[in-house]
Amino acid sequence: MVPDYDESNITAAVLGSLTNAKSERARHISEAMVRHLHAFIREIEPTEAEWMAGIDFLTRTGQMCSQSRQEFILLSDTLGASMLVDAINHRLPSGATATTVLGPFYTPPPEFGDGDDMSNELEGAPLFIEGSVASVSGERLAGALVDIWHCDSEGFYDLQQPTGIDVLSGRGRFRTQADGSFHLWTVRPTAYPIPADGPVGEMLAVQGRHPFRPEHVHFRVEAPGHHELVTHLFARGDDWLLSDVVFGVKDALIRSFEQHEGGIARDGRVMDGTWFTLRADFGLAPATK
Ligand code: BEZ
Ligand code: FE
Repeated sequence: MVPDYDESNITAAVLGSLTNAKSERARHISEAMVRHLHAFIREIEPTEAEWMAGIDFLTRTGQMCSQSRQEFILLSDTLGASMLVDAINHRLPSGATATTVLGPFYTPPPEFGDGDDMSNELEGAPLFIEGSVASVSGERLAGALVDIWHCDSEGFYDLQQPTGIDVLSGRGRFRTQADGSFHLWTVRPTAYPIPADGPVGEMLAVQGRHPFRPEHVHFRVEAPGHHELVTHLFARGDDWLLSDVVFGVKDALIRSFEQHEGGIARDGRVMDGTWFTLRADFGLAPATK
């Protein structure tokens, strides 16, 4: 006899179809997906038009993705899913710098020498970043790789240029010195809205949310034998610190961008006008695997 599937037996039937999954992990993930999806449908009781609108939303999210736009990462970020995955994967010991989302604008950056300027002619107030990398036990780590990226003073990343990317700017790869230190020049970024002209922007509008992230600089730090660190440093006093659209802010990651007028920077550069300094000291947890 053909089973008559209805609200009372459809979930069990789909779960029952998963017994030959290729691995325990595949079975576990598939079962959880079915249980939660069916629970979601039972909770919201969508009309068929609403369900098709949801499918259309996901279809358009995929269609919006390109070399310069990753709408699915934006969706994951704005629903707090990226920060939840981040939290689960980085349960770190005390002394380790807190992590936050990678975001959609990372790409392996050009390499620079210690002290170089990575702004590559971006407009904005000069920013001198001076920092260090150490283990949680305080041992300074020489030769650690430090990738840094940020938007320009208008709030755009180089990857977002509509004309395509001729040159990367506002991003660089540095290596720590024998004492674990690094320093570089760039320009100060700004707070910015995430791209809101696609399905994620529509979702934020429907949910009554703004699209802004507080001003920040991104860092990715790698050292042998240590847990990779992906984080940002956020500007103290920024208007959006309490309502970051991707839920990425942590108190321990807020720093003062110290303002200066003229004078001489610590590396001897003679300064004219307003410029800023940011300290970026990181603690890395030991690798677990
Ligand atoms: C970013 O900070 O680059 C970012 C993070 C999540 C979504 C959009 C942008
Ligand atoms: Fe960013």
